[in-house]
Amino acid sequence: MKKLFIVANWKSNKTISESLQWLQEMSQSQLTSSDAREIIVCPSFTVLSEMKKFISENNLPIKLGTQDISPFAEGAYTGAIAARQAAELVTHAIIGHSERRKYFHETDEDVIAEVKQLLANKITPILCVSDMQQMDYFLAHDPVIVDHADEIIFVYEPPSAISGGGAFHPETPEDANKNAAAISEKIGKRVITLYGGSVNPDSSATLFAQENIDGGLIGQASLKTDMFINIIKSFS
Ligand code: PGA
Repeated sequence: MKKLFIVANWKSNKTISESLQWLQEMSQSQLTSSDAREIIVCPSFTVLSEMKKFISENNLPIKLGTQDISPFAEGAYTGAIAARQAAELVTHAIIGHSERRKYFHETDEDVIAEVKQLLANKITPILCVSDMQQMDYFLAHDPVIVDHADEIIFVYEPPSAISGGGAFHPETPEDANKNAAAISEKIGKRVITLYGGSVNPDSSATLFAQENIDGGLIGQASLKTDMFINIIKSFS
């Protein structure tokens, strides 16, 4: 059976106490660690330190990630968090999310610079790809993504499928599988590729069963532990 990657993207949600409550519920769910899956939770920077402490004290099978990273190294960049700083707290970082592009005007060049910063600091990039034009841009402008494809978790996430906190409307499993496969084809070898956009307990099993999909980037359905646990269990 293939290894499954379940990534929670909490977006701008949860205070410290709410995050610890979520972890408390996860710890009561008897979720055992398994070589067949990785659970990576990406909350806001404000809660990472407390969550890291809780996870280690309670020996939970959960890794932590950020939702963004500075395209620059440490230095005079007000408000930005550099990969070297984040590396004290996380093993992963979501980059290139379409909401970062839409609301914070991040560009493909920024995303390429972020990949480099993360790799240099041994943080695994979880690289969101909205469509294949974006992949074409990445590949045409810099070799880093192809050269380090084995160190990157790719996510095919069409912006039109993101729930935005409203109704779930995932892409069809067939289309999601086809587009996930296209990422590997463009790289020139099979790479780890997740699907994102309205993954929920009703759709996760079918999506994760697709040949080219290795798990999911989960927004709204990761905020409540019962839904998130059902998604984790949907393919184990
Ligand atoms: P959603 O969000 O699961 O709520 O659609 C996914 C994402 O934006 O990463």
